[in-house]
Amino acid sequence: MHERIEKLRETLAEDLKSAADLKELEAMRVRYLGKKGEVTLLMRKMGEVPAEERPFFGKLLNELKKSAEGLFDNRKAELESKDAANRWERERIDVTLPGRSFSVGRKHPITLVLEEIEEIFTCMGFKIAEGPDVELDYYNFEALNMPPEHPARDMQDSFYINPEVLLRTHTSPVEVRTMEAQAPELPVRIISPGKVYRRDDDVTHSPMFHQVEGLVVDRGITFADLKGTLLMFAREMFGKDREIRLRPSFFPFTEPSAEVDISCIVCNGKGCRVCGGTGWLEILGSGMSHPHVLRVSGYDPEEVTGYAFGMGVERIAMLKYGIDDIRLFYTNDLRMLSQR
Ligand code: FA5
Ligand code: MG
Repeated sequence: MHERIEKLRETLAEDLKSAADLKELEAMRVRYLGKKGEVTLLMRKMGEVPAEERPFFGKLLNELKKSAEGLFDNRKAELESKDAANRWERERIDVTLPGRSFSVGRKHPITLVLEEIEEIFTCMGFKIAEGPDVELDYYNFEALNMPPEHPARDMQDSFYINPEVLLRTHTSPVEVRTMEAQAPELPVRIISPGKVYRRDDDVTHSPMFHQVEGLVVDRGITFADLKGTLLMFAREMFGKDREIRLRPSFFPFTEPSAEVDISCIVCNGKGCRVCGGTGWLEILGSGMSHPHVLRVSGYDPEEVTGYAFGMGVERIAMLKYGIDDIRLFYTNDLRMLSQR
């Protein structure tokens, strides 16, 4: 017994020195001091030792166990400090490596144009109003002088949710909502940017697109105010040499109505492929507010007049950036979107 204890003491001391890291050391501790470890097993063998020698060997074994525990603790502390010192090497970084590049997002061309339009009109004293994309038939058509079965509804093929609710086909319903909320207060002077939806789909027509509505209502508002404001807008947006042209048109919610063209930004009015040889490009629809619209919105058409316009934002962005297919705005092609 004595011999076995001494032998164990020796091999343990040797082994400890060879433990290279904390993991190995732990495995070794289990091998010696664990439940089935060598020291433990030897302790169990005490039963075989004659009774009178038991106290002696018992003491010896306990001492061995104690000193082994101490040795393990010391070695553990030693390995731990060595580990900390190695960390510098292990976690070393090469600061001369080139960095990982990441791409910076930028604003969508439609957002840029919307912000520019908002800027131009807010500088002229317009406030920004908003309305819901999911709209009542009443605001989208009926209040705008298009009762059910009115043929003008066909010009804006619609997505209906139920017979009373649809995705708005233009931003004009915001005119009525704004006046309703504000009447009888004057003046009304708002623009309303937002998404609109129609059953259209080709190179110049998208099922979802953006419009900016404009509305001014006050005493004594005339067609000259409309024309002057839109001329100012065209020059701010497309350059100070721009001219505008108003062509007679029809909208049920304005009377009289006009389509507004700008002189072609490519040929300056001489006639080219972009303007189809006419020298002019259409940018929006407009007119003087129809008495019906003013009346249902809470204003007296005998007392006040107003003008309104509605422009297609994609159309303006296409002209400004020379884009010939509206679908490029929505296909998320980074080759297109990352251009400045
Ligand atoms: C209207 O939507 C009227 N609400 C405009 C208006 C407002 C007139 C206030 C008078 C007073 P129109 O359907 O023409 O009008 O559409 C206006 C513009 O939206 C068009 O000039 C065009 O630039 C754009 N547009 C129309 N349909 C599409 C489409 N499917 N995709 C992209 N742009 C479109
Ligand atoms: Mg039109």
